Amino acid sequence: MKIAFFSTQPYDITFFESANQAFGHELVFFTQALEPTTAGLAAGAQAVCLFVNDQASEASIAALAKLGVSTIALRCAGFNNIDVEAAKKAGIKVCRVGAYSPEAVAEHAVALLLTLTRKTHKAYNRVREQNFALTGLLGFNLHGKKVGVIGTGNIGQAFCKIMLGFGCEVTAFDLIANKEMEALGVVYAPLIDVLASDIISLHCPLNEQTKHIINAETLGYCKKGVTIINTGRGGLLDTKAVIDTLKNGTIGALGLDVYEQEEKLFFKDLSSTIIQDDIIQRLMSFSNVLITGHQGFFTKEAMEKIAHTTLENISNLEKNLPLATSNSIV
Ligand code: NAI
Repeated sequence: MKIAFFSTQPYDITFFESANQAFGHELVFFTQALEPTTAGLAAGAQAVCLFVNDQASEASIAALAKLGVSTIALRCAGFNNIDVEAAKKAGIKVCRVGAYSPEAVAEHAVALLLTLTRKTHKAYNRVREQNFALTGLLGFNLHGKKVGVIGTGNIGQAFCKIMLGFGCEVTAFDLIANKEMEALGVVYAPLIDVLASDIISLHCPLNEQTKHIINAETLGYCKKGVTIINTGRGGLLDTKAVIDTLKNGTIGALGLDVYEQEEKLFFKDLSSTIIQDDIIQRLMSFSNVLITGHQGFFTKEAMEKIAHTTLENISNLEKNLPLATSNSIV
């Protein structure tokens, strides 16, 4: 099958060309993100392969359908950027990589957390300048702290296990309590109780129920000095409310791998441009905020799995074979 890749980065080409040796699809790579005006690049392809910031809106889907595209294959887990109803109506199948390496994202959440709690980002710069003073680097132990996890799917579970290993007390909020997690010692509780933790980590999908789940009201239930980690999706936080809460000192530290308006910024080198987004500039100005550019998924193991599963999904759909439930959207 001919597959048109949108939002391609050099590493996508490396991993997908290598994985494709086992599948033999025809791959064409475009750096542009999918939007109605770029959909035409998929002419001649039967499938498109999309990433987190491609916009498969109703208009993009209509343009793809006109070209005869029958499959949208996401090379990621989240699918909040896809108009699922429009795809259904257009008769386009949509698949994703439901679980590639939940540990990759969970470990990145922990990397953000440990960097913030032990200030290693500051220590790194200080020591390079031969400043070995410790003033200002006082951290706190994770051991014994109350960690609140919102969303205990694949990534949330991997995160819970790591936190339990650190000796934390883990409470969680999810629509469904996970028995395996409960057996390990995770206690499920209502959202307001989970918010009253020392550390909060977000691992639920972005949808109508979870948009701005962290907002001015819910931040009111948080402890003063709370550390919040978001590796889920930027829209889980009401960024404006978060900035106000950083300014009044309620949020002690914030680690973000995702950002509400990230599609204009992330995965691009903007080092010689003037960034027009004042909100991210304000976030970056806080000394207790650490931002990474959506790299939670970015490990060798995860990239190999993503490439293999995406191409396998497309091959199975081509042969009318069923997909794993977690990979099938439409
Ligand atoms: P998953 O589908 O395995 O788990 C999601 C969990 O959230 C489920 O247990 C579900 O019941 C729960 N949930 C759904 N709605 C909820 C609600 N209203 N309140 C509380 N919990 C709710 O998904 P997975 O693989 O664990 O990924 C979670 C999210 O992480 C993805 O949707 C994606 O947005 C994000 N992600 C981020 C990556 C990164 O590189 N930073 C990479 C991969 C995923």
